[in-house]
Amino acid sequence: MGKNKLKKFAEINSFPNVLQPDYISDTAHFQYKGKWSKDFFGNNNPLVLEIGCGKGEYTVGLATEHPDKNFIGIDIKGDRLWQGAKRSLDAGLKNTAFLRIQAEKIEQYFGENEVSEIWLTFPDPQPNKPRIKKRLTSPAFIERYRKILVPNSPVHLKTDNKTLFEFTLQVIEKYNLKPNIISNDLYNCNEKRLDKAAKSIQTYYEKSFVEEGAVIYYLKLSLGDESKS
Ligand SMILES: C[S@@+](CC[C@H](N)C(=O)[O-])C[C@H]1O[C@@H](n2cnc3c(N)ncnc32)[C@H](O)[C@@H]1O
Repeated sequence: MGKNKLKKFAEINSFPNVLQPDYISDTAHFQYKGKWSKDFFGNNNPLVLEIGCGKGEYTVGLATEHPDKNFIGIDIKGDRLWQGAKRSLDAGLKNTAFLRIQAEKIEQYFGENEVSEIWLTFPDPQPNKPRIKKRLTSPAFIERYRKILVPNSPVHLKTDNKTLFEFTLQVIEKYNLKPNIISNDLYNCNEKRLDKAAKSIQTYYEKSFVEEGAVIYYLKLSLGDESKS
């Protein structure tokens, strides 16, 4: 491992806004599950997740715009989380946290109806068939999200990957979910209901895709009451 990465791993352990609980054997009793806003952030504000956040551009960008909400960036890669966590600390943001976990375990870290919004920003497309279930919009993940989301909460997806986008549309059809907004070309989309942040914040990966001339796909859907079994 490079020296720089080692330094970041050492530093991240001391960041008060980073939690790396995967080493705790009994995660069923994770202390903030169901109580993130009250016990970690010290308020009653709504909780927003960015899953597969990488360097956390949405977590930091949205937290800056919405001091009345709490934001948690989730990723498994510590050196990427370091970037968002450091930017948050430098900016003095009190409404962000970064959680280093496998997203597959999300229900162990968030209680039922605890989350008010989810952003999926350029998730890995996982093109190989055996890994399709690892896609962050696979049926197993939709099931996980609907357990932790407040009814009728929005889930946003941004991707440059047509296969992943079309796969996601099939999944939401399977669940009879009604997308609020679908765009095959976000930056040429004039939909008035579009959240400002869909265009105003760009992630690290997104910037390079856009520079290469790639089209960005966007989807917003609500996971509602009717989708809870
Ligand atoms: C293509 S990158 C996108 C990063 C960032 N959102 C961006 O747009 O720049 C995908 C990210 O998802 C993370 N990731 C993929 N699968 C994950 C999982 N199951 N649990 C946690 N993180 C995951 C990877 O570590 C990686 O940082």
